[in-house]
Amino acid sequence: NFTPNAFVEEMVAELKEKLQDDKVVLGLSGGVDSTVAAVLLHQAIGKNLYCIFVNNGLLRKNEFQSVLDQYKGMGLNVKGVDAGDRFLTELAGISDPETKRKIIGRVFIEVFDDESKIIEDVKWLAQGTIYPDVIESVSVKGPSATIKSHHNVGGLPDYMKLKIVEPLRMLFKDEVRRVGATLGIDPELLGRHPFPGPGLSIRILGDITPEKVQILQDVDKVFIDGLKSWGLYDKVWQAGAILLPVNSVGVMGDERTYEKVVALRAVESTDGMTADWVHLPYDFLMKVSNDIINKVKGVNRVVYDISSKPPATIEWE
Ligand code: XMP
Repeated sequence: NFTPNAFVEEMVAELKEKLQDDKVVLGLSGGVDSTVAAVLLHQAIGKNLYCIFVNNGLLRKNEFQSVLDQYKGMGLNVKGVDAGDRFLTELAGISDPETKRKIIGRVFIEVFDDESKIIEDVKWLAQGTIYPDVIESVSVKGPSATIKSHHNVGGLPDYMKLKIVEPLRMLFKDEVRRVGATLGIDPELLGRHPFPGPGLSIRILGDITPEKVQILQDVDKVFIDGLKSWGLYDKVWQAGAILLPVNSVGVMGDERTYEKVVALRAVESTDGMTADWVHLPYDFLMKVSNDIINKVKGVNRVVYDISSKPPATIEWE
């Protein structure tokens, strides 16, 4: 029987004991796990926790700035690093999903490493690893290693000789959320849908360009804002939009158009291992489809993904 209050009390004491006056660096992602880990560590060691929040240029629309502001508002010692151009330059011309993931993983480590070197005498790397990540990173060493290389766990270059501290590694997601609530973290932040580390890159099928990122950010925003205003966001485990690498014919007045197609995906799940597509109301889908086509230039068709996992993974890549 898990009690978040007791966990916080014990973990803060344990972290104080373990870390003493050492400096700790942590990468914030905007997600629940890294945020809860940061607030917990902040309670234990205060300003000796140095947080780094990297913009890989593949986050949701406006999220780099809004999430950074939110972190600062929470009193965290956080530095925002806008490396969007660097990521997008390295990704130019790349269509293969695994290659995209590897490039993003590598560039992230390069950026993070450069930033953590600036912090004098840092001893520890903190991570928001939770129990399912621990399990999954063990299983991906098996024959299915090439299915998807999740880079939440491990993957540290040798030259980053930091000791690792992972205060959430025994917790499940719902327990992390309860710990976050105990710590007074904004419920909206704690209720955020999971979002993959490689971000929108694996929702842009084919090669990635700044224009495509912008189109997908705009489409995604209409969809997610719609889910929120219709009271559907919290009923869905994860949702997002996918930009397809095909054009389709449409009509606008007397003109024939030949523009992009987007797919919307919303799933119910408990752990992401299996997932069912959500039966979103037709009225909602109709409204969102109209809004996307009216508001986002370059898109003339919206489709809804009615596939469950297995076999269809949540992400299209
Ligand atoms: P799939 O697509 O495998 O996704 O059904 C299951 C969950 O994992 C997320 N996901 C990732 N997260 N790096 C991440 O950090 C990745 O490369 C990655 N690929 C998928 C996905 O968003 C879903 O929540």
